Amino acid sequence: MDKPFVYGATVSGDNFTDRVKETKHISMNFNAGMNTILIAQRRQGKTSLINKVKDYVNSSEIYVISLDIYDCRSEYDFYERFASSIIKATAGKIEQVSRVVADFLGRVTPKISISPDLSSDFSLSLGISPKSINPEDVLNLPERIADKKGIHIVICIDEFQQIGEFPDSLTVQKKMRSAWQLHKNVSYCLYGSKKHLMEKLFQNKSMPFFQFGDMIFLERISTVDWVNYICSRFKAFDKSISKEYARYICEKVENYSSYVQQYAWNVMVEAGDVVSEEDLIEGYNALIKQTSALFLAQISNLSSYQMNFLRAISAGIHSGFSSQGILEDYRLGTKSNIARLQISLVDKELVEKIGKECFFADPVLKVWFQKEYCRYC
Ligand SMILES: Nc1ncnc2c1ncn2[C@@H]1O[C@H](COP(=O)(O)OP(=O)(O)O)[C@@H](O)[C@H]1O
Ligand SMILES: [Mg+2]
Repeated sequence: MDKPFVYGATVSGDNFTDRVKETKHISMNFNAGMNTILIAQRRQGKTSLINKVKDYVNSSEIYVISLDIYDCRSEYDFYERFASSIIKATAGKIEQVSRVVADFLGRVTPKISISPDLSSDFSLSLGISPKSINPEDVLNLPERIADKKGIHIVICIDEFQQIGEFPDSLTVQKKMRSAWQLHKNVSYCLYGSKKHLMEKLFQNKSMPFFQFGDMIFLERISTVDWVNYICSRFKAFDKSISKEYARYICEKVENYSSYVQQYAWNVMVEAGDVVSEEDLIEGYNALIKQTSALFLAQISNLSSYQMNFLRAISAGIHSGFSSQGILEDYRLGTKSNIARLQISLVDKELVEKIGKECFFADPVLKVWFQKEYCRYC
């Protein structure tokens, strides 16, 4: 069904806008066998973008395989997801799976479940464990398959920052890097939401994945593109919005992708044939209502120092937190508290650090927080 606006799910087709430069850049990387690292805050459009590139590049010579490791908690969870995704994508038909597993993974016994709706989809479990397999055999699986089939493979791993949370993560990262860097027919696209964790993995000289590939920081979609998109979606559904109001929508949420779509949809729900100023206000009030329960949960466990730190940011203070005046005005404790407060709030994805300055990571949270907690700031 053609939807006017989509949020909370990956977007494609008419609900996907812009990203022309990024699509070209990443497609070129995929075609040339270059590794790519894509970093951005969540809900900016990483997964949608990679899906789009995948559709472009996928062919009988280049297999683009994607997997999401958001729920992998350990090295062997990862190997299971990695190997089963690769086998599923390269075996072609379900009848071939057992043979491919026997050819490439020897000792494991695959369990295949066919989906109940009788579509061609099936799930595959390999039962990979330290007893059944060597990590190197799994990590080299795509290279061996690519070599045998005479194809190139691009492996896209979503929520890659998750590997930083595995027990003994550094050793796992070393194993991955040393296997993957020797691959000649396989390249990798590693992307993830938790920006600070991704940066830790890839930008720190002492980490195994340092300089593993082409780093791309996904910027927000420009106002011009959003305005065209919003106006054309209203038009496609027989409504009209002025460019000025469309600009207001994206600027109000600082061009944050999922919020632009959510807010635009709220406005469409309010509007008659032509969007009025009141529809913009009501649409925004609805956005605050829709998000407030989540925000409340996000801040429910904060200490009073952490809350005070957010109050300071709300009041327009972005740096210089250790100065005596600010420590006292916002009751932030001692100087030595500040670094810890910043790290913990960045970890919780409430605060984003740009250079030395701290900002709210979420533009709607900022407004909600100000309304709820800063009336007397
Ligand atoms: N190129 C795009 N055009 C329009 N909306 C987009 C685009 N990319 C992302 N969005 C919006 O952002 C939301 C999150 O997209 P997603 O690809 O899941 O982001 P991420 O993987 O960065 O968390 C989508 O549901 C959609 O509302
Ligand atoms: Mg995603």
